[in-house]
Amino acid sequence: MRTLLRIDSSPRKNSSISRQLGDVLQEKLENEANYITSNRDVYYDELISLGNEDSVAAYFTPEDQQTEAQKEAVQTSNILAKEFASADSYLFTVPMYNFGITAGLKTYIDLIARAGISFKYTEKGPEGLLKGKKAYVIITTGGTKLGTPVDHVTGYLTTFLNFIGIIDIEFIKSDQIMSDTEKILKDAKTGINELILN
Ligand SMILES: Cc1cc2nc3c(=O)[nH]c(=O)nc-3n(C[C@H](O)[C@H](O)[C@H](O)COP(=O)(O)O)c2cc1C
Repeated sequence: MRTLLRIDSSPRKNSSISRQLGDVLQEKLENEANYITSNRDVYYDELISLGNEDSVAAYFTPEDQQTEAQKEAVQTSNILAKEFASADSYLFTVPMYNFGITAGLKTYIDLIARAGISFKYTEKGPEGLLKGKKAYVIITTGGTKLGTPVDHVTGYLTTFLNFIGIIDIEFIKSDQIMSDTEKILKDAKTGINELILN
């Protein structure tokens, strides 16, 4: 068994295209690649924002030197960052909002990117600690074409995942869905079912 951490980031639940595609891929990964899935929902788990002076200070203070206020403020980040680091693979479902990712996903990223857990500082600069893991990233857009200069999702997520050591990224792109939602959704589902998994 391998562990898959699924991270959903659409504020929509029932009518979300990215979540629908995520369901198809999750089922395939479970059935064909021996994954067991756990979930993070960046809107419905009500993640707090980075927050305040104490939480940010705690990021840069060794645990045994943190004040009680810092320890409390950084608790959510500790849980999320350790949970993220312990998964074998990831399934992100990512709607484009105003050319980038949603605020909820950005908050989640700010909470899981932690020195000592997901990356470390070295003399040569930061080094990712989550090596040998795989990320599946489903991106949906209404009208923007992915891969064009206004796509600030693909490049950003590549940079971030590479930064924490994840270089094996499979993007599943379903863009411009407003042009013909039904057909594009059907094609995307077919594309996912045809993916060759490793
Ligand atoms: C606030 C907001 C901003 C959006 N910004 C963009 C955008 O910049 N480019 C785009 O192509 N679609 C944009 N969309 C459309 C969504 O990307 C599209 O509807 C996508 O399918 C949403 O994912 P979901 O169906 O999983 O909720 C936006 C939608 C909302 C609600």
